[in-house]
Amino acid sequence: MLDRQRQAGDGGDRPTAQVPECAAAEADFVIGGYLAVPAVLLGETARLRFPVWRKQGESRVARVRPAGPAGPGAAEASESAGPSEMLYVALGDYYLYRRQVESRLGLLLGDAALGDRRFELAHLVVAQLLGEMLESWPGPELVERIERVAGQVAECCRDDALLRRWLSLRAEAYSTARHSVNVCLLGLLLARSLGWADTDGPVLAAALLLHDSGKAGVQDAIWEREGRLRPGDWDLVRQHPARGAAWLVHVSGLDGRIVKVAARHHEQPNGHGYPGGLMSGDLDPWSRLCAAADTFDRLSSSRSFRGALTARQAATMMRAGAIGRFDREMVDGLTRLMLDGALDRANEAGGAAAAPAGRPDGESEGGDPATLESYLPLPPLKADVRLDERPGGQPPPRHQQRRRFSRHPYSMCCRVSYLRAGATSQAHISFWVTAVDLSRGGMQFVHDSSMPLGELVSIFLPDGGRGRHVRAMIVRCRRGAGGACFIAARFDCDP
Ligand SMILES: [Fe+2]
Repeated sequence: MLDRQRQAGDGGDRPTAQVPECAAAEADFVIGGYLAVPAVLLGETARLRFPVWRKQGESRVARVRPAGPAGPGAAEASESAGPSEMLYVALGDYYLYRRQVESRLGLLLGDAALGDRRFELAHLVVAQLLGEMLESWPGPELVERIERVAGQVAECCRDDALLRRWLSLRAEAYSTARHSVNVCLLGLLLARSLGWADTDGPVLAAALLLHDSGKAGVQDAIWEREGRLRPGDWDLVRQHPARGAAWLVHVSGLDGRIVKVAARHHEQPNGHGYPGGLMSGDLDPWSRLCAAADTFDRLSSSRSFRGALTARQAATMMRAGAIGRFDREMVDGLTRLMLDGALDRANEAGGAAAAPAGRPDGESEGGDPATLESYLPLPPLKADVRLDERPGGQPPPRHQQRRRFSRHPYSMCCRVSYLRAGATSQAHISFWVTAVDLSRGGMQFVHDSSMPLGELVSIFLPDGGRGRHVRAMIVRCRRGAGGACFIAARFDCDP
């Protein structure tokens, strides 16, 4: 918790209180015991139910207005602060201050005189509220505050120009709280582009803000780890949807769709998601929308170990790994928004044109191609599984006995290149597929069009973020439900 040192000043003996760590992360505590806040967040100081202060000298604050209704200092109470001025709130009044700024979030967003600064401040207000949630479990009082804020965000975002401008100024550096605000804005715009009714906006906004509530109490450092996660961390990642839903389901009066989004936003239509492995028929539209917006924001946010992808790079990478992993309608919707320029950040001048055409985005010159999986949390390697042996020495089931090698599920995005097509450059004859299973002798993958039997290909297998190329021959091609083709390739040599 923060240093709650009291400072001598005019009334500087205000009681202090426990304030969330998130306040320290975003605010400027220049004077011990007082929180520096932009004056525009507070509105008219004369109407406040708590005293505010102004900096006087290096280490002192002076009272701007006394607490309570008009009193001896009423003349001071009418004093108004300039738009760029910082005022100070005693830490003991932290929760009164939070209620004040949350109650007037809509007014702040509607104040066109503030220009783009209103979006920065609004983002801060919502992210701090979510930061409070992530420091503890999302209890009923906190969920109620988030619902109220979500209602104001959704109401303001009915103005399409406002929503698009706010989205263009969204946070770039990843943290769970900032990510949740971004997902809320992305989700609202995507829902509108899909023709969904704005009347559900407040509930949808609350669902998107609360989607990662299961990460409460989990250190952000886990999500900042590059490469494969440790087994314990992977369990936390896999369990956070169920954790969040388990908390939210006990909040009385909460819309059931909010609980579903928290529970299912990492499920995939092909059943390879978590925690339930649900198939597309079991996934509600809001969960599918949240899954797409969530992944898009994770790709287009910067992390401690890599920079952010541009909107075009993120959308293209999602498209490449989309088969079975995301709802097609959502990926198409994101792609349309990307082509429209609605997903570019304001500081991405020409971002839509930044990615070179004809090459999978995220690939570095001369380096290994970056896959969707390499940008998302990777499960730990199962050291006890060998591709040429069935664990435990059990004989394979009868239907697999004709196979020389046992197959294992392998959900990865791989690049396949034709080796003997007539094209002059491999860049023109390679494409991305989603692997379904892998054995020592071959693999099966899903592609959106068929491939000729006997064709020779090179398959890039991303393995721990480094990867290797394997030569293979196409030996089976079967069209499945939804038009996708399940294609089996036999390796020329061991993978
Ligand atoms: Fe999540």
